Amino acid sequence: MENNIVWHQHPVTRHEREKVNGHGSAVLWLTGLSGSGKSSVAGALEQALHQRGIHTYLLDGDNVRHGLCQDLGFADRDRRENIRRVGEVAGLMMDAGLLVITAFISPYRQDREDVALRLPAGHFIEVFVDTPIAVCEQRDPKGLYKKARAGEIKQFTGVDLPYEAPLKPDVHLNGTLPIAQLVEQLILMLQSRKIIA
Ligand code: PPS
Repeated sequence: MENNIVWHQHPVTRHEREKVNGHGSAVLWLTGLSGSGKSSVAGALEQALHQRGIHTYLLDGDNVRHGLCQDLGFADRDRRENIRRVGEVAGLMMDAGLLVITAFISPYRQDREDVALRLPAGHFIEVFVDTPIAVCEQRDPKGLYKKARAGEIKQFTGVDLPYEAPLKPDVHLNGTLPIAQLVEQLILMLQSRKIIA
């Protein structure tokens, strides 16, 4: 941290914003392989929450890489920076009182842990979208596995680079189940944690 920079505590806090919204805030961090279903689950969940009047925002890997992280590639160092930036943005949005959903491969445990450590305790909810690589590869919605196997894409998670599955995720989703069922599981979890009613 650079010298002479002091944190300024403003009068309106996250708690005040949550009161106005009528629900809690959190970062729901979806992690899983490419093709595991992260974006589909995240989109369907956001829609379900939106219909219930919950203030949400969805940060999605492919989209964020068009702007905020357009200068980053897929080498380990770039992925670390990608996740760090997204973690910071998600934290700011959560501080604004939103229920933030993120959908990033986020393949490294340490990077996910670092994001969690920057957030208030209990506000980082790790959701593992667990889909076997064989299923992801069969789905291959963008044809990326095919290209990776042919050597046309380098540093592809699950092919050239590892995916470190969460050891103790807050929520473990079976990514081969119907999306509606997974959304229901997440809504019940948010209710049991009293983030939403
Ligand atoms: S990471 O690892 O969290 O930084 O990745 P993320 O920002 O989520 O971006 C993943 C999406 O980028 C596309 N893509 C690749 N993924 C993995 N490895 C390589 N080399 C790669 N190149 C492009 C791919 O569409 C990923 O989207 P999803 O939705 O996960 O399939």
